[in-house]
Amino acid sequence: MPNSKSFTVQHVFTIISCLTAVYTSYRLYKDSRTKSNTVNPPTTKNGIEELIGNTPLVKIKSLSRETECEIFAKLELCNPAGSAKDRVALNIILTAESKGLLTRNDPNKQGWVFEGTSGSTGISIAMICNALGYKAHISLPDDTSLEKLALLESLGAVVNLVKPASIVDPNQYVNAARKACDELNASGKGQGVFADQFENEANWKIHFNTTGPEIWQQTDGNIDAFIAGCGTGGTITGVSKYLKTKSNPYVVLADPQGSGFYNRINYGVMYDHVEKEGTRRRHQVDTIVEGIGLNRITQNFKQGEELIDESIRVTDKQAIGMAKYLSVNDGLFIGSSTAINAVAAVKLASRLPKGSRIVIIACDSGSRHLSKFWKEAKIVDNKISIDEILNSQ
Ligand SMILES: Cc1ncc(COP(=O)(O)O)c(C=O)c1O
Repeated sequence: MPNSKSFTVQHVFTIISCLTAVYTSYRLYKDSRTKSNTVNPPTTKNGIEELIGNTPLVKIKSLSRETECEIFAKLELCNPAGSAKDRVALNIILTAESKGLLTRNDPNKQGWVFEGTSGSTGISIAMICNALGYKAHISLPDDTSLEKLALLESLGAVVNLVKPASIVDPNQYVNAARKACDELNASGKGQGVFADQFENEANWKIHFNTTGPEIWQQTDGNIDAFIAGCGTGGTITGVSKYLKTKSNPYVVLADPQGSGFYNRINYGVMYDHVEKEGTRRRHQVDTIVEGIGLNRITQNFKQGEELIDESIRVTDKQAIGMAKYLSVNDGLFIGSSTAINAVAAVKLASRLPKGSRIVIIACDSGSRHLSKFWKEAKIVDNKISIDEILNSQ
């Protein structure tokens, strides 16, 4: 039998151990409660222009499960004016300011930004112009979706609707914008800058300086492939240029039907002679998808062309099915160019090793496309499968 002294020491030791265990459990419980109640808001910003960029990266769970790869979407639709074009519009304006071509709140000369755009860039320019004290003049094809037009008008931009035409036509929307800018400057009634997103290098450079580094950090440098569509080429060029300085992810240009990039990247020819811009009168890229696809080489595309490893063609029907699939299965309500990228990601994943990590750009939300693209996507069966999407031509 233990003597009374050793019994007491053992006893005290046991009690202390029990108390320590109880206290530790209590602290762990308290900490977990505090953590779940802690809010972690971003810092306060000085104007909407400071809200641009630093967009989230989200895993697309359904596609990752189906393909056994990890597929992520860079949610550029979270920018304040709703697309990746916020970055570009702001950088074009800041670059013009740094060259003395635009001056904020100049009492003698109102500053104007002119652009020819199928929508997104115009909306970003209009919103940023309002924030910085400029006026926006936007030329765009008259078949642009109604919600984009309504947005531009609501933002107070001057809207110049032109017939869809080839780039050699003086009334094509890019040419119409340049002309309107020249006219203002010649009149001396204001200070006009032509944004020129297709040729302006401030476009790809902002993706090189911000979107690319964000993706690199958000994936912890663990990225096997990057996929984007190509309108001006600013996004795919800027992001690829950055990522290829860090590692060597496989870069894919996702191309809609009717666009020439697919042939250009895979076979070195932009188009058949029958598709050459300037030789046909009708709209060049015959797709329901807005914002991507072109039949000419722009400066922004040229700067990154050699970094693009492959182009994957996606049909309108495949994109429409994918948009419905992601909405039903992931709650991701996306626009048409994002749907094109998601289909390309599934096609690529079938050829990559399991577990490969793919990042796609989610340029804008479905709410920009209600009257055209989503009019068709909303009637797709909720139960559409990935195989059905891939097999729809
Ligand atoms: C909805 C949408 N997605 C993608 C793009 C293509 O981006 P980029 O011009 O950088 O090639 C655009 C371009 O306007 C767009 O509006």
